Amino acid sequence: MKPRLRALSGIKPTGTPHLGNYFGMVQPAIALQDTHDAFYFVADYHALTTGRDPAMLRRTSLEITATFLALGLDPKRAVFFRQSDVPEVLELAWQLSCVTGVGLLMRAHAYKAALDKGEGGVLPSGTFFYPVLMAADILLYDSAVVPVGRDQVQHIEMAQDMAGHLNALYGDCLRRPEPLVQSEVPTIPGLDGQKMSKSYQNTIELFLPEKALRKVVKTIKTDGAALEDPKDPDADNVFALYKLVASPAEVEDMAARYRAGGFGYGHAKERLADALNAHLAAPRERYLSLLADPSTLEDILQDGARRARAIARDTLDRVRDRVGLPKLPR
Ligand code: TRP
Repeated sequence: MKPRLRALSGIKPTGTPHLGNYFGMVQPAIALQDTHDAFYFVADYHALTTGRDPAMLRRTSLEITATFLALGLDPKRAVFFRQSDVPEVLELAWQLSCVTGVGLLMRAHAYKAALDKGEGGVLPSGTFFYPVLMAADILLYDSAVVPVGRDQVQHIEMAQDMAGHLNALYGDCLRRPEPLVQSEVPTIPGLDGQKMSKSYQNTIELFLPEKALRKVVKTIKTDGAALEDPKDPDADNVFALYKLVASPAEVEDMAARYRAGGFGYGHAKERLADALNAHLAAPRERYLSLLADPSTLEDILQDGARRARAIARDTLDRVRDRVGLPKLPR
């Protein structure tokens, strides 16, 4: 049997997971555990560049862990861990920074956006350094592919560059990763029709209780068409979300009702709420019972960290040897 390629990705714990995270990232990532050697981690070091709330960082880290498990991540096959439980990554980040020009980091989209806003001087230097830590995340585990959204591709390319620099200067010791952008994943519209994102405050939380879920679904923005008007399903946010959870026959049926007229957005929202609820009820129950048992979550994270760390220390020893540092103390 061909050995499986290692797929690695990090998830920043910056808020309670929502439908956009689920369809855009969590679901495709979990699917990869069937075909790849899957490594996923909660990027809590990265979250420190913007977060200032320790209680929230702890809580959202556990929420993300519970979300992956509730939705089917198998912690026996996949390795799921918390970034900060493997602090070796900070050392590799240092090694990479020593062979990476400031010019490379100055090309990062996030840094340029801060400059454009006139905020270059007050940007935390950790934010400037963010791509180095992310490269270390990827390279530390010999990752072959990195499943990410399009907005993260530049970061992967920077990781390729950094690995290339170190390899060129000291001889091959880091594996070159490739981004894996899942093109079939659609953009998930939020309540206002823009891309669903915490920064637009237009999200639908993944594991809302049924009543609260029905309530937010009612607030999805639609055009002003009257009940009797024919409607274009492909121009509507309710329909776009429905497509993600309903069966093909249900989707066909709803599209036909839109086009025929006499079917209002209120009806559509009710069907969407039903479909979302049917899809999420069982994972929601698993999620709530996982969150109620933080010590089991912690055990899973520690087991993941132990497996991740063994690989991390091997990689770091290889790099240490190349650059002239002693082996890690055992
Ligand atoms: N920067 C990524 C994001 O904001 C999170 C992340 C951190 C990551 N380290 C990573 C993703 C390593 C992939 C690989 O979404």
